[in-house]
Amino acid sequence: MTSSRLPADLRANTLEEARRSVGEYIDLTVSNPTRCGLPYAQDTIRQALSEPSVLTYEADAAGAWSARSAVARWLGHGVTAETIVLTASTSEAYGWLFKLLGDPGDDVLTPAPSYPLFEWLARLEGLRARPVPSYFVHRWHLDLEALASAIQERTRAVLVVNPNNPTGHFLSRAEWDALTTLCAQRGLALIVDEVFADYPLEAPPDHLPTVLASPAPPCPVFVLSGLSKVAALPQVKLGWIVAHGSSAEALLEPLHFLADQYLSVSASAQAAASALLEEAPAMQRAIGDRVKANLQALDEALVSHPQLSRLPVEGGWSVLLRRPALESDELCALRLLQQAGVLVQPGQAFDLPPGHLVLSLLPPEWLFRLGLERMLHWVSVPQA
Ligand SMILES: Cc1ncc(COP(=O)(O)O)c(C=O)c1O
Repeated sequence: MTSSRLPADLRANTLEEARRSVGEYIDLTVSNPTRCGLPYAQDTIRQALSEPSVLTYEADAAGAWSARSAVARWLGHGVTAETIVLTASTSEAYGWLFKLLGDPGDDVLTPAPSYPLFEWLARLEGLRARPVPSYFVHRWHLDLEALASAIQERTRAVLVVNPNNPTGHFLSRAEWDALTTLCAQRGLALIVDEVFADYPLEAPPDHLPTVLASPAPPCPVFVLSGLSKVAALPQVKLGWIVAHGSSAEALLEPLHFLADQYLSVSASAQAAASALLEEAPAMQRAIGDRVKANLQALDEALVSHPQLSRLPVEGGWSVLLRRPALESDELCALRLLQQAGVLVQPGQAFDLPPGHLVLSLLPPEWLFRLGLERMLHWVSVPQA
């Protein structure tokens, strides 16, 4: 009865099944900031979401002008409200862009390792996500040669995440120039997911903090983000697409047509946008402090575990822990849950090569330290 775009097997994987059956555990995978004891401006948020204007409905395909203007002010770099289309989330923005750019059977090149949702977001629009692996030598690099040779007749767009999740890799200026030149030469659009751009940490000097700061690129570029990470408010459901450069702006009219079929952004999210964005810098500072403190706790703990190491965290909310791959990362994560009562993500969930676990840096510091204390010993002891 269902379309072949959906997964054939919807059963939970082994780790998820184990998680459901284990009673208590320390969650070092948490990516939901509202569950991490962060200092939200609760009264301001409640007030912002109950503005008097929520009582009237003004349909606008691209989103309320006031909300788009607030996002444009927040983004800076000369971004104007005219070039912004509001969505309910970044995930929805992907869906709209895939509908805009591709026909069923077309493909988009996606980064690997990365956020695991791209495959399904593409597939649900009838497109194929074709991962192109990045590689790590002292830092992460896009494999530009692999990217160029992966382009086929039905390729419509290239997707990059700046900084990537969970590797934290920020695009370098050289990568950006090569990427936009390649897309222009091959007639492709470039989708840049910048949901974590406000969270730089150990970024090298040549990193590109946001592609919006770059001069108008030679190919259509769509930049995505939203309140989910910018203001740590995933529940508000407000994301955006910025058409960056004149060749993306030329596609705004069909994008508006598409958005008009959904009109999915709520009046309350739009009315609250300006006030919520004013709170964003304070939340970003709180999260930045949290992430830094947890990373330092990890570095201190790793001194006693010389067989383990961590990769640099250029940006974002995660850290990659490197371990000797004596068993699969999934088995290791399963063992950590059962033996140490700590949940971590195996690297393979993000297409990482063997020998990586992914830890969230968002948990409260005391809980993160306790989780490390309980688990690190077991990471390097395959046989109990
Ligand atoms: C790289 C990346 N893009 C997009 C999203 C989804 O964001 P949203 O909540 O706005 O749909 C996530 C969620 O974690 C993410 O990691």
